[in-house]
Amino acid sequence: MSKQFDVIVIGGGPGGYIGAIRAAQLGFNVACIDEWKNAKGGPALGGTCTNVGCIPSKALLQSSEHFEQAGHHFADHGINVSGLSLDVAKMVARKDTVVKQNNDGIVYLFKKNKVTFFHGRGSFVAAKDNLYEIKVAGTVEETISGKHVVIATGSNARALPGTPFDEANILSNDGALRIGAVPKKLGLIGSGVIGLEMGSVWRRLGAEVTVLEGLPTFLGAVDQQIAKEAHKAFVKQGLKIELGVKVGEIKSGKKGVSVAYTNAKGEAVSLDVDKLIISIGRVANTIGLAADAVGLALDERGAIVVDGDCKTNLPNVWAVGDVVRGPMLAHKAEEEGVAVAERIAGQHGHVNFNTIPWVIYTNPEIAWVGQTEEQLKAAGRAYKAGTFPFMANGRARALGDTTGMVKMLADAVTDEILGVHIVGPMASELIAECVVAMEFRASSEDIARICHAHPSLSEATKEAALAVDKRTLNF
Ligand code: FAD
Ligand code: NAI
Repeated sequence: MSKQFDVIVIGGGPGGYIGAIRAAQLGFNVACIDEWKNAKGGPALGGTCTNVGCIPSKALLQSSEHFEQAGHHFADHGINVSGLSLDVAKMVARKDTVVKQNNDGIVYLFKKNKVTFFHGRGSFVAAKDNLYEIKVAGTVEETISGKHVVIATGSNARALPGTPFDEANILSNDGALRIGAVPKKLGLIGSGVIGLEMGSVWRRLGAEVTVLEGLPTFLGAVDQQIAKEAHKAFVKQGLKIELGVKVGEIKSGKKGVSVAYTNAKGEAVSLDVDKLIISIGRVANTIGLAADAVGLALDERGAIVVDGDCKTNLPNVWAVGDVVRGPMLAHKAEEEGVAVAERIAGQHGHVNFNTIPWVIYTNPEIAWVGQTEEQLKAAGRAYKAGTFPFMANGRARALGDTTGMVKMLADAVTDEILGVHIVGPMASELIAECVVAMEFRASSEDIARICHAHPSLSEATKEAALAVDKRTLNF
C-alpha cells in the first residue's frame, strides 16, 4: 500500500514550499517532492529562487555594491580606502552560504509544519479511485498517492536556438552566479531583469560589460519616464547597452565567445567577450512530469493551462508559479501557493494581479506597481501624474544617493492611485507602501495626508502624491 496524502506538491520553490506549508497549517496531510540537488547531490529546497535566482543574485548584488561604494563613493564621505582588493572566491562562497541558510530554513519549516519531504523527481503515473499516483524517482524509487496535486515545477532559462548553455562560456542565470574570476569582457544578450542585475554585478567588480537587446525600447514594460532615468544612470556607470540589435551567429572557443549581430543602424558588427550570459526570458518547466499519463493540458508555450483559480483541466490538480501564466516572480508564486491551499480547504484564497509589485535590484533600484503612463494612455483613461525627485529629498542627500524619482499616477476624477513607479534608492522597500495603498484603493490625497517620518525616503512618495495635486512642499 503506497503512502497516501491529502495534498501532494510537486516542486519545492516559492510556489511549492509555501503552498505546502499553508496546506499543512490548514490541517492537511501534505507531501512535497523536489528534485533540486546541491553540489554534494543532497536536497536543496527553495527552487530557482533560492538556489540560482532571487537569493544568490541579491547576495552578489550586495557584495558588488559594497565594492563599488568602497572604491568610488566612500571618498565623498571623507573615508579614504587604500589597498582595496577583491576576493571573488570568498564573495561567491558567501553567496553559497546565504543560499544554504535559506535551504536549511525550508527544511526546518517543513519539520515544524509536518510536511513530508521527498527528494527526487515527481511524475504522474495514473489517476485511480479519486487519487493520483505519483512516482518519486530519487535515490530510492517509490510511488505515493494523493487526493489533490499542486504542480509548482517552475521554469528554466530560455536558450537561443542553436546556442545551448555550456555554463563555462555561454551562461544561463546558473553559470552567471558562479563565475570564478572577473571576466575582462562580459557580454549579455537581453537587457531585461537578469541582464541588468547580472550586468551590474560584474561591471561593479571590474568587467567591461556590453548588453545586446533585441527591442528598440529600453525596459519596454516599465513606465518610460522611469526607464529613461534608469538608462541614463546605467550608461553613466559604464554599462554599454545596445538596443534594437539582431543577434546572429555565436561562436564559442578557448579564447572566449564571439557574437555576430546587426546593430540598430543595420551594420554587421561582432562582439568578442570572455563570457556571454544569455538572459532572454524563461520557459515553463514540465520536464519529467509525465503530463501525458493523466492528460494534463499544456498551452502552445508548454505552460500548464489554468483558470483564474489555478485549476488545471484535471479535477483536484492545481498549478502555480512560473509553470503557469502571469509574471515569473517569487512572490506571485507564493501568493498562488497560499491561495490554492486555501481553496482546497474550501476557503476563498485570491491573488490580485493588479497589485503585484515588480523590483529590479540594480542601483538605482527600479520598482513599480499598477499601470504605467503608457498603459493608461493606451486604455484612454484620464489620469493625473505627480513626480518628486530624490534630489529634493533630505534623506537621499544625506545618503549621497539622489538619483531618480517617485512617480504617482491617479485617476483624474476619483483620484484613486492607478500606479506608482520609482527609480532610486531603496525603491524595493518604498514600493510596499504603494502596494498597500492600492490594495485599499487609496487616493493620492490619502498618501498626501499621511504623516511620513522625516527625514526618510518615504517622504518622496508623499511628495509625489502632493505633486498629483500640484502642491509639493519641498520642490
Ligand atoms: P521554481 O523556483 O523554479 O521551483 C521549482 C522547483 O521544482 C525546483 O526546485 C525544481 O527542481 C523542482 N521540480 C521541477 N520539476 C520537478 C519534478 N518533476 N519533480 C520534482 N521537482 C521538480 N523573482 C522575484 O520575485 N524576485 C527576484 O529578485 C528574483 N530574482 C531572480 C533572479 C534570477 C537570476 C532568476 C533566474 C529568477 C529570479 N526571480 C525573482 C524569479 C523567481 O526565481 C521565480 O519566479 C520563482 O522561483 C518561481 O517559483 P516557482 O515555485 O514557480 O518555481
Ligand atoms: P526578461 O523577460 O526580463 O528580459 C528578456 C529580455 O531579452 C527582453 O528585454 C527581451 O526583449 C530580450 N530578448 C529576447 N530575445 C532576444 C534576442 N533573441 N536577442 C536580444 N534580446 C532578446 O527575462 P530575463 O531577464 O531572462 O529574466 C527572466 C525572468 O526572471 C524575468 O522576467 C523575471 O520574471 C524573473 N526575474 C526577476 C527578477 C526580479 O524580480 N528582480 C530578477 C531576475 C529575474
